Amino acid sequence: VKDEPVSPVAESGATDFGPFDSRIWFNCAHQGPLPNVAVTALREALTWKIAPYRIKDEMFSSTPQRLKTLLGKLIGVPGDQIILGNSASYGLHILANGIRWKSGDEVLLVEGDFPASIFPWLNLRNNRGVLVRSIKPHRAVLQDWELEAAVTPATKLFCATWVDSFTGHVIDLSALGEICRAKNILFVVNASQGLGARELNVGKIKLDALTSCGYKWLCGPYGTGFCWIRPALRDSLSPCQSYWFPAVWGRNPGAMRDWVIPEGLGAAAYDVFCTANFFNFVPWGAAIEYWLSKGIPRIQSHNDALAQRLIGGLDPKKYTLFSPEAGSERSAIVVLSHSHSSLNHGIRAKLAEAGIDLSLRENNLRFSLHFFNTYQEVDYALAVLNAA
Ligand SMILES: Cc1ncc(COP(=O)(O)O)c(C=O)c1O
Repeated sequence: VKDEPVSPVAESGATDFGPFDSRIWFNCAHQGPLPNVAVTALREALTWKIAPYRIKDEMFSSTPQRLKTLLGKLIGVPGDQIILGNSASYGLHILANGIRWKSGDEVLLVEGDFPASIFPWLNLRNNRGVLVRSIKPHRAVLQDWELEAAVTPATKLFCATWVDSFTGHVIDLSALGEICRAKNILFVVNASQGLGARELNVGKIKLDALTSCGYKWLCGPYGTGFCWIRPALRDSLSPCQSYWFPAVWGRNPGAMRDWVIPEGLGAAAYDVFCTANFFNFVPWGAAIEYWLSKGIPRIQSHNDALAQRLIGGLDPKKYTLFSPEAGSERSAIVVLSHSHSSLNHGIRAKLAEAGIDLSLRENNLRFSLHFFNTYQEVDYALAVLNAA
């Protein structure tokens, strides 16, 4: 692979990441790499902990605030509506534990969805008398009419994953959101496999909550995530945690011994504990700033062009595609299988030998194509695949 990037857009991010030891990373759906600017930011944060006099009191508030502002810009909400977490699951647990369920309420899920979107609701069956039911889509992507048909008077909430980890299919957030609003049910989305690679503006969708991890397409450190909950819903939750830091330090550090939970903490009441998590949140903030500076629509068209090239270059006699060939249901995750699927394991090993890293999921080859990847890298992978 030559050094010079060949990109479908004027500039790719190839030189802003890595080096990957001369390997090719097609695996953001598993772990995104830190961009160089985030590495620099992390090095700076390390110096603070080496000599902690460098950690000033205000940094405990300014670090999370800065990250919230950036994440708010990313999804189109004010920064003070962002809840900082450590995963995608964190935000879903706030909702599962905080919503004031009545026995007999129903949660609707999608059959075959990623477990992070399923597990947070399962305990509700045992300890709150909530019914948890899943809808089986008739094809790869759940359609709005299927959701509409599945809703019952007991349905209170519908949770789904935006981009499917196993096939790359994208659900239609607008259409599903319309159904949820019309039926008066809460719409909760796990955006982990999309944010950073595709546009999402909360103001344009009838959404009630969104959660995402930060370490895939957003290229933050492992152990990062956030969620947004519509303020009216957030304020209706039964408090499931009470952290001293926002309650006292962030409000009135002179009153450390007054054990009063203040009113109106908003999203900050739900932040993950030790919110100024410098080693994670400083570099993650730098990564989000990087994505914002590049512009998500540009990232999306870059990734889309790479997906097009990969799909278009596959030997159709050898490979079956599990992702959509084109259109709005296609994402930057491209999943395929050799027509003899028993060969997939060996093909992945061949790719690895050739310096190409990707995931095998459900015994299929999963390519994740992001801004730092190039046409050249895709062509090289195609050469290995088609020769296999
Ligand atoms: C759709 C989706 N959601 C969430 C996660 C990760 O969840 P968490 O950050 O809660 O561990 C993954 C990881 O593969 C995923 O694919």
